[in-house]
Amino acid sequence: MNDFRPQIIVTESDSFGETAAGFLIERFSEALKQARMPLVVLPTGNTPLAIYKCLARDHAHRRDIWDHARFLTLDEYVGLPPGDEKLFYSWLCRAFMDRVGIPQSHRVFFHSDAPDPKAEADAMEAWVRDNGPIDIAVLGLGGNGHIGMNEPGPDSAFDSVTRLVRLTPETVRANGAYWGGEDKVQPTALTLGLGTLAKARESVLLVNGAHKAAILRDMLNKPVATDIPATYLRTVPGVTIIADRAAMIV
Ligand code: GLP
Repeated sequence: MNDFRPQIIVTESDSFGETAAGFLIERFSEALKQARMPLVVLPTGNTPLAIYKCLARDHAHRRDIWDHARFLTLDEYVGLPPGDEKLFYSWLCRAFMDRVGIPQSHRVFFHSDAPDPKAEADAMEAWVRDNGPIDIAVLGLGGNGHIGMNEPGPDSAFDSVTRLVRLTPETVRANGAYWGGEDKVQPTALTLGLGTLAKARESVLLVNGAHKAAILRDMLNKPVATDIPATYLRTVPGVTIIADRAAMIV
C-alpha cells in the first residue's frame, strides 16, 4: 500500500480560521480553472466554524467561486424532516451556504427523511460517480479518527462506498450536546465512503485544538488501517493537513 506523506500547514491557534480560509480560497479558485463547476465536499463540526466565518465575511470578493462551485455535504443523520435544525445540511446552510449565497441548485445533500436510507446512500454514490470527480474534499477529524461518519472498524474499508452506518457510542457522546442529550442522538447516519472520498483530486484535513493532538499523531504515525479511518489519507496523493499548534503538540 502506498504511504504518501501529506503536506502539513501549521498555524497559530488564533489564525487557524484565517489561514485555512485563505488556503481554501486559493484551492477553490485553482479548481475553477480546471473544471467548469468544481465539486467540493464540506464538513460540519466545531473545527470549520472559524473558517466559514472568514469565508462569509469576505464573500463579496469571490462571487466567481460561490456562483460556480457545487458544494456537497459529507454526511447526514438519518430520519430527520427537511429543515430540522439538527440536520448537518441545515447547519451547513446556516454556517456557510446561506451566508455566502450558494445557489440552491449547487447544493447537494442527503435526504435524511428518505423512506429507504440504503437507497438514498446508493443514489448519492451514483450521483457522485456521474457528476464527479470530487475536486476538493474538505474534511474534519473525529476524536476517534473517523472521517465523515466512517467509524473505526472493518465497515470503513478504504474502498467503502457511500452507505448507511451506525455511530459508535463515542460519537453519540460527542454529538450529545448538539442534540440536547446523548439519549436523543439519532445513532444512524449516511456518509460518503472512504473509497468515494479517496477518488477526490485533492483533500484538505482540518484539525485544531489540543483534544485532537493524540489522534492526529496516531493518524500520521500508526499503521495505515481501518481502526483509524483517517489513515486512508496516507494512501492517496494530494492531501494537505491544516493544523493549529495545539493539535501538533502531544
Ligand atoms: C462529526 C462529523 C464530522 C466532523 C467530525 C469532527 O461527527 N460527522 O464530519 O468532521 O465529527 O467534528 P469537530 O470538528 O466538531 O471536532
